[in-house]
Amino acid sequence: KKKIAIMTSGGDSPGMNGVVRACVRMALHMGCDAYCIYEGYEGLVQGGNLIRKMEWYDVRGWLSEGGTLIGTARCMAFYEREGRLKAAKNMILNGIDALIICGGDGSLTGADKFRAEWPSLLEELVANGTFTAQEVHPFSHLNIVGLVGSIDNDLSGTDATIGCYSALARICHAVDLIEATAYSHSRAFVVEVMGRHCGWLALMAGVATGADFIFIPEKPSEDNWREEMCSIVEHHRKIGKRKTIVIIAEGALDREGNKITPTMVKDLLADKDGLGLDTRITTLGHVQRGGTAVAYDRMLGTLQGVEAVKAVLEATPDTKTCVITINENKIMRKPLMEAVLDTKKVAKAIERQDFEEAMALRDTE
Ligand code: F6P
Repeated sequence: KKKIAIMTSGGDSPGMNGVVRACVRMALHMGCDAYCIYEGYEGLVQGGNLIRKMEWYDVRGWLSEGGTLIGTARCMAFYEREGRLKAAKNMILNGIDALIICGGDGSLTGADKFRAEWPSLLEELVANGTFTAQEVHPFSHLNIVGLVGSIDNDLSGTDATIGCYSALARICHAVDLIEATAYSHSRAFVVEVMGRHCGWLALMAGVATGADFIFIPEKPSEDNWREEMCSIVEHHRKIGKRKTIVIIAEGALDREGNKITPTMVKDLLADKDGLGLDTRITTLGHVQRGGTAVAYDRMLGTLQGVEAVKAVLEATPDTKTCVITINENKIMRKPLMEAVLDTKKVAKAIERQDFEEAMALRDTE
């Protein structure tokens, strides 16, 4: 009987519980045993009761729960071979030979590395006497499949990551609330949203709320962004707008690659010699990541979880580690490392201030 384990890793995102529920139930439906690894890679390294066998009813009601009920962690030990050796040992002790990981690009890179190293980890476990060659023989091929859970929608090769539409809904709701008080006092608000290297949340929230101005990492405003923003806001005020909303991604940059901060934007809007607007800053922070998943993320997590189990069962030793994506409304499988490397290219382009390249890469995603 095949034993498939599921874990969530990196930053949590709404919809991860839907993934775990779908993987557990699909694994059971296919006649396999299902396991959950609690606390991300930490659970794999520590083993013990952090690796638990799951039954159908164990995941009952999980679709409507926020965060990840099996926990997640940023695990330093897994970066070291010693940690990965312990992880391999714990998998064999539990009879697990297939792993489904839902996380961001960092977690998925770790997964691919683990799979590449697997044969040498087994050799070492035999050489140091932990297991006999016969004991490790059934585990010679490790199948790993990735699912992208992130609110940032920052992975190349997929139209949406699990959780991004929930975070977007949360941001829009928050801006709606802010707008009421902004209107009442005729104030300006600078709203900071998440997205270290990716402006998707800021951009889409700006479009969805009709914000006056948006700052994102991939496309910094022109050198004269100060004048540009002020003249747009001034125009909006002149035609009777009582509220001003500027949305800024936490990773927003100017053309020289310097960070544009909410305080810089606020000072500009409030400048007595300029617009002189009564301005406040609201940092939405982790409110964006918490809470229940919207329907789209529940649907995405469920369909992709089912596909991940199918992918694990169909994989052969020659299959590249794959990631489950959604492209033009179709659930697909793609080579995991290609998606991760393309994602890294965008971050690198932003780092060296090649913003044209960053935008071109985003456009082709
Ligand atoms: O999941 C990505 C993200 O939401 C980023 O946008 C943000 O910078 C980061 O997580 C913050 O996460 P944490 O507080 O868990 O380090």
